[in-house]
Amino acid sequence: MVKNTQVIFSRIPDSYIPEVGKDMAIKETEFDLDAPLSNGQFILKQLSLSIDSYMRGRMRDPSVKSYVDAFEIGKPLKCGTMSLVTKSNNPKFKEGDLVQSSGGLFEQYTLVQDEKQAEEYQVKNDPRDTGLPPSYYLGLLGMPGMTAYVGMMKIGRPKKGKTLYVSAAASSVGQLAGQIGKVYGMTVVGSAGADDKTVYLKEIGFDEAFNYKNDDISTKLKEVCPKGIDIYFDNVGGKTLEAAIANCNNYGRIVACGMISQYAEHPETAHNLMQIIVKRLRVEGFIVSDEADMKEQFRKDVTQWLLDGKINYKESVAEGIEKAPEALIDVLQGKNLGKQIIKVADE
Ligand SMILES: NC(=O)c1ccc[n+]([C@@H]2O[C@H](COP(=O)([O-])OP(=O)(O)OC[C@H]3O[C@@H](n4cnc5c(N)ncnc54)[C@H](OP(=O)(O)O)[C@@H]3O)[C@@H](O)[C@H]2O)c1
Repeated sequence: MVKNTQVIFSRIPDSYIPEVGKDMAIKETEFDLDAPLSNGQFILKQLSLSIDSYMRGRMRDPSVKSYVDAFEIGKPLKCGTMSLVTKSNNPKFKEGDLVQSSGGLFEQYTLVQDEKQAEEYQVKNDPRDTGLPPSYYLGLLGMPGMTAYVGMMKIGRPKKGKTLYVSAAASSVGQLAGQIGKVYGMTVVGSAGADDKTVYLKEIGFDEAFNYKNDDISTKLKEVCPKGIDIYFDNVGGKTLEAAIANCNNYGRIVACGMISQYAEHPETAHNLMQIIVKRLRVEGFIVSDEADMKEQFRKDVTQWLLDGKINYKESVAEGIEKAPEALIDVLQGKNLGKQIIKVADE
């Protein structure tokens, strides 16, 4: 028997920021690594967990429909996981394989019970070929990276010489969206909520970066985008969207990726949507999970850009599964610089 620490969803939060101990609890259980496995079963040891802001949206009443299921009370949180197969009675998952999931369980060990549960997991031994850390497949080379890629390549359609503005630019999605703009020769401007984040954005090649908490966003955009905005990659919505619309050029495009400001209790909204017509803007939303056919090209392009030094990537790593609740709160409060990862164990 080994210790199996789990991070349990224990209550629907009363406010936007969940409470550790009340809404998310650490539970110590035991796990039998030597138990016999039925046909199709296998055991995973979690190596890294991904902390994503959209997890807050899953802490809701399950009767409220959304694009992703609500978490189940009393069960472990779910999000991106990178794991190692330690024992298997399933021919698709061999002992020693690295395995990725977008809906893996926040616990040290998982017994994957049947083929249905196995569908949540994919063998992802690529880190052994690329030499890149397995945790990169939770961020840059995982769902957040693919979100940036789909948003930019399918909707934004980057063009040399044009101007791209990215909000929440130091987020996992934002940092890649902006860097894709640079790969394609765009002028790229980003905003973030802390000075160390704006310094980081300049370091990774953004032409301009500003702290939206220190400035009037629209005035600042006028100053740093003198030719106007051609593509706005929106991660924030609300007043930031309003400021971006005010500074968009005619026929500009808005990639509606996320509206993190609208997840809070009393969100401020954009009041100039009429300008979408006046400026003939094209606004398009998307959900990354609909775009599986772009996955192969995404992995190929982003891996190559990274290996060629055309893009950079930063992780914020907290050690130990019991750090997951606080790490989620940090992400919701914008305290993380770079993709938030929980390191659970070494390979
Ligand atoms: N469409 C899709 O399929 C899809 C898939 C994944 C993610 N998304 C969206 O993509 C966006 C980025 O996700 P992520 O996982 O990369 O984020 P992340 O790394 O968790 O970072 C989120 C950042 O948003 C900023 N933020 C938080 N509250 C804010 C507010 N009220 N106003 C402005 N900024 C705020 C914070 O940074 P600051 O310090 O800058 O405030 C925070 O660090 C989110 O909106 C998410 O919902 C969409």
